[in-house]
Amino acid sequence: MADTFHRVTGTLWLHPGRKAILKAARIICAGGLVAFPTETVYGLGAAAVNPAAVAGIFAVKGRPADNPLIVHVADQSQVDRITSSVPEKARYLMEKFWPGPLSLVLPRSSAVPDQVSAGLSTVAVRMPDHPVALQLIDAAGVPIAAPSANRSGRPSPTCARHVLSDLAGRIDAVLDGGFCRVGLESTVLDLTGPHPVILRPGGVTREILSSALGEPVLRSFWNGVAAPPSPGMKYRHYSPMAPLILATGPRIRRLRFLDNLAAFYRNRGIKVCLLNQAFDKGRVEGEQDLAKRLYRELRRCDDEHVGIILAEGVSIRGIGAAVMNRLGKAAVRVIRV
Ligand code: TXA
Ligand code: MG
Repeated sequence: MADTFHRVTGTLWLHPGRKAILKAARIICAGGLVAFPTETVYGLGAAAVNPAAVAGIFAVKGRPADNPLIVHVADQSQVDRITSSVPEKARYLMEKFWPGPLSLVLPRSSAVPDQVSAGLSTVAVRMPDHPVALQLIDAAGVPIAAPSANRSGRPSPTCARHVLSDLAGRIDAVLDGGFCRVGLESTVLDLTGPHPVILRPGGVTREILSSALGEPVLRSFWNGVAAPPSPGMKYRHYSPMAPLILATGPRIRRLRFLDNLAAFYRNRGIKVCLLNQAFDKGRVEGEQDLAKRLYRELRRCDDEHVGIILAEGVSIRGIGAAVMNRLGKAAVRVIRV
């Protein structure tokens, strides 16, 4: 793509060529904020070693200060800089799944400011599988701390337009790399305890991780009372404007239930979006495709001023676990039929 850019209410919209990436890297090094594409979702990046820049991320997103950020690296030496020890298991997983949608929680080094880790003794780190992200980190010469580039609580952005619709005028630039290939955030895997524990399901599934490691991989849930294993668990997330109702249970029953509910709302003049029903009509290739389209569909509901979203649960096998995790958090009600 050519090196072109224009401004959207104060935010540079960059089409990533060599010059644009250098420009974005200079902004990062000067303490600015740049949104960039990864294979999962767009990230909102700042130099991970610059506490003031990192504080800016929290401010523009409206993110609670106790929710730590993932640090993005382009090579192994950057991992050594931000961690205090790297277990063999972690090295093996980096070798096998990086670059890719897997964030590893490891003990952090003193190079990581408190703001990044929200005061925890650990840091989450990943190497994104996207040439623009890797070139940006490389050109900046520092690891980049980046949450998803949305206002806190909103669906993650899977294209530059989504980023701008939440953050135009609040951030310095966005590198436009088109749509994200995976469409859901990375798996967050805690490697600081005796067993590997998934804190957030994502692009690399539990089944794949346990078969790679040759041991069971646990899945962590929050009981809603004690401190959550990952601070992100306690916040409502991924929410479109309209309320979302999620129906789970046997397929025939949940479809009948959703059809009835849709008729109920339509009869009252409320615009309904039935989500996941696309499976039936053969418009979705499979669960990977559903994952890829989920946030786009939720944001489309906003654009089309949908009044209520009725979503059908999917199987929690493979990437389905991540899809159901996001739908569960987006939902105002989960109904088992
Ligand atoms: O795919 C992704 O992971 C995207 C792209 C941009 O890389 N990033 C992303 O970041 O989804 P964010 O901030 O939206 O979600 C990070 C999650 C949060 O739930 C946070 O609580 C958790 O990771 N997390 C980060 N650091 C952690 C740590 N040290 N210990 C436990 N959980 C951590
Ligand atoms: Mg997020």
